[in-house]
Amino acid sequence: MAKPFLKWAGGKTALLPELLKAAPERIETYYEPFVGGGALFFALQSEGRFKQAVLSDSNRELINAYIQVRDNVEGLIRALQVHQRKYRAAEDRAEYYYTIRAKKLTCSLGGAANLIFLNKTCYNGLYRVNSKGNFNVPHGRYKNPTICDEENLRAVSEALQGVELTVADFAEAPQEAGDGDFVYFDPPYIPLTDTAYFTSYTAKDFDMEAQARLAMTAERLAQQGSLVALSNSGHPDVASMYSSQAFELREVQARRAINSVAKRRGPVSEYLIQSV
Ligand SMILES: C[S@@+](CC[C@H](N)C(=O)[O-])C[C@H]1O[C@@H](n2cnc3c(N)ncnc32)[C@H](O)[C@@H]1O
Repeated sequence: MAKPFLKWAGGKTALLPELLKAAPERIETYYEPFVGGGALFFALQSEGRFKQAVLSDSNRELINAYIQVRDNVEGLIRALQVHQRKYRAAEDRAEYYYTIRAKKLTCSLGGAANLIFLNKTCYNGLYRVNSKGNFNVPHGRYKNPTICDEENLRAVSEALQGVELTVADFAEAPQEAGDGDFVYFDPPYIPLTDTAYFTSYTAKDFDMEAQARLAMTAERLAQQGSLVALSNSGHPDVASMYSSQAFELREVQARRAINSVAKRRGPVSEYLIQSV
């Protein structure tokens, strides 16, 4: 059974039972416009609940990694095995990590191998870039990270056959969604405090204007007949943004694995929003 091949900030594994309940049993086309690690996609796929899927994200290096897993998995496995061998044999693993980090992440087989390698060996599996778009997460402290999980990569490749993968803004990819379709939006969350949340997934931040545009997009898709679900933080602005009759809000408990401040790793309540 395929599971996420990347560790991604905001990964939804802990909320999966709630999300699976929110999703319809039978879906024509499943859209996940902020795919990240794609936890819900893999869960729905293993239950055979959709006919088609469209996965997208604004992060082109991330989508490239999905494309390489789908179309070139054996080549990718070989490239990751080289990383795994060299990293494990390195006298100074941090030095090997920083050598790979210094390379520009390209949209190619090598770029995907570098991204997966960095994801498995960096601090907490974060993805963060500076204003120049360069990956800038420090080296992590894992004893023996699995860099190349061959079996899962092959299962993921199988699961991605026939899936549409695109680099797109969240509003663009699901434009055509309608009757029988399901769209799940998992955007960067509205921060509960200035420092509590990590929101810089890409060089361009997801600001309140983007949050408002997302609420409008969700409402339009619901009017088109698609079922829509969204996750966001427990911030009061979320409640007011989705106060229209088109939506139902529920508070759910999620455990956030990625937070540099240990005492903030406790449960935080967040919203699960669904079209009615
Ligand atoms: C919270 S993560 C998704 C987590 C994912 N559902 C999981 O289970 O791992 C948010 C994603 O939104 C993407 N993103 C940020 N702004 C975006 C935009 N305007 N359009 C599409 N994707 C965007 C980021 O690249 C990031 O991958």
